[in-house]
Amino acid sequence: MDIILRPVDRNNWRTMVRLQLKPEQTAFVSPPAWSLARCYVRCFGDQFEHLPHLIYSGEEAIGYSTIACNPGSHHDYWIDDIMIDARHQGQGYGRAAVTATIRMILSRYPRCLGVQLTCFRANHIAARLYLSLGFVETGRQDEEFGEPTYRLSGSKLDVLRLP
Ligand SMILES: CC(C)(COP(=O)(O)OP(=O)(O)OC[C@H]1O[C@@H](n2cnc3c(N)ncnc32)[C@H](O)[C@@H]1OP(=O)(O)O)[C@@H](O)C(=O)NCCC(=O)NCCS
Repeated sequence: MDIILRPVDRNNWRTMVRLQLKPEQTAFVSPPAWSLARCYVRCFGDQFEHLPHLIYSGEEAIGYSTIACNPGSHHDYWIDDIMIDARHQGQGYGRAAVTATIRMILSRYPRCLGVQLTCFRANHIAARLYLSLGFVETGRQDEEFGEPTYRLSGSKLDVLRLP
C-alpha cells in the first residue's frame, strides 16, 4: 500500500479539516480541527513534540495522524489521533498508516522503545488492527478519557525500524 505522510502546514490544513469519519466513529478520535488544536496547545505538556501529518495516497489526502512524543524519554511516544476518511476505509490504508506513523516516530526519535495509544473499548475494528500489529493492552487507562491504552515494544516494534 503506497502512502506517504506529509506535515500539516499552512498549505494543506484546510484539507485536513475536511476529512470525515463515519457517523458511528465520531467518538473515537478528535475532529480534525480539534486534533490540530491539541497539537498547537501541546496538550501532553511542553516536553512533548506534537506533530500533525496528513496521509496521502498519491496526491489525495485520505487521512491524518497526530503524534505527541517526548524525545527525552524511552516510552512516551504517543499516536494521539489517527483516522482514514470514511470513503477510503477498508482498503488497507489504516494498517499502512499506523505502520508509517510508527516508522516515522522511530526514525525521528532514536530513543523510542515503545509506542503507545488509547483505543476506546467500543472501537473493535481499531483494537483488532492494533493487536494484529503486536500492540498489547497495558492494563492502564488514559487519564483524559478513562479508556484502555496499548503499547507496541520489543521485537514487534523493532521490525519496523529502518535498517
Ligand atoms: C481504524 C481505521 C483507522 C482503520 O482504517 P482502514 O483503512 O479501514 O483499515 P484497513 O483497511 O487497513 O483494515 C484494517 C483491518 O480492519 C478490518 N476492517 C476495516 N474496516 C472494517 C469494517 N468496517 N468491519 C470489519 N473489519 C474492518 C480490515 O479487514 C483489516 O483487517 P485485516 O488486516 O485482518 O484484513 C479506520 O476504521 C478509522 O479511521 N476509524 C475511525 C477513527 C478511529 O477509530 N481511529 C482509531 C482511533 S484509536
